[in-house]
Amino acid sequence: MDTIIIAQDYEEVCGKAAGLLAAQILLKPDCVLGLATGSTPTGVYKRLCTQYAAGLLDFSGVRTVNLDEYAGLGPEDEQSYHMYMRHHLFDHVNLQAENTHLPSGLAPDQKEECMRYDELITSLGGVDMQILGLGVNGHIGFNEPGDAFSEGSHTVSLSESTIAANARFFPDAGKVPRQALTVGMKAIMGAKKILLLASGENKAQAVRDMLCGPITPRLPASILRLHPDVTFLIDSAAGQLLPQI
Ligand code: GLP
Repeated sequence: MDTIIIAQDYEEVCGKAAGLLAAQILLKPDCVLGLATGSTPTGVYKRLCTQYAAGLLDFSGVRTVNLDEYAGLGPEDEQSYHMYMRHHLFDHVNLQAENTHLPSGLAPDQKEECMRYDELITSLGGVDMQILGLGVNGHIGFNEPGDAFSEGSHTVSLSESTIAANARFFPDAGKVPRQALTVGMKAIMGAKKILLLASGENKAQAVRDMLCGPITPRLPASILRLHPDVTFLIDSAAGQLLPQI
């Protein structure tokens, strides 16, 4: 069932998302979490770290699979998603390193790496709970708007709007990699539960199109409406263009 929660602000979005993730870990200590990067989930990870430090959560059996990684960036690169995950979560909780997974941005054969990553997700039994952010152009993971929904993991050329949106994490826009490896819709839609987080007025149009527009690969997140258990956690700024009910 689709659930749409309009939270007051970013803090409330993060509090609710962290609560749902914590419940997932408590209910299934060896669960597989699908993790996202970007600025939106940072407050969620912060809360999980706090709960861990307070002795309320145990990550020792948890497995994680991230959505994506920039092509050409290694795990030690400050702007890589490997490093992001270490900074925001992995270095602060008792996740076992061998249980955390991201696609490699340095794989010599990206096609092979994408196949390996899809097989890995399958071998873990799929994702129990998938966290997603939302690109300003409606992308999820790095599944950019296009003519068709991608199925498996693949290399993608980033759109100009994504490069511009993510430039803030790099010393200058010229340093943003032009390509990334991302899981496809099969892995995302195969998750048992999905939590889509959106915060801030710059996401308002994408939120409206995702929830009220046609289901189309031109707005990749619109496909989530076909998932049987998705929660859209949106703050009032991101939800400001939604019809009032
Ligand atoms: C990147 C990531 C996405 C993320 C999106 C939105 O492009 N690949 O997974 O959802 O940015 O990021 P933010 O939360 O910073 O707006």
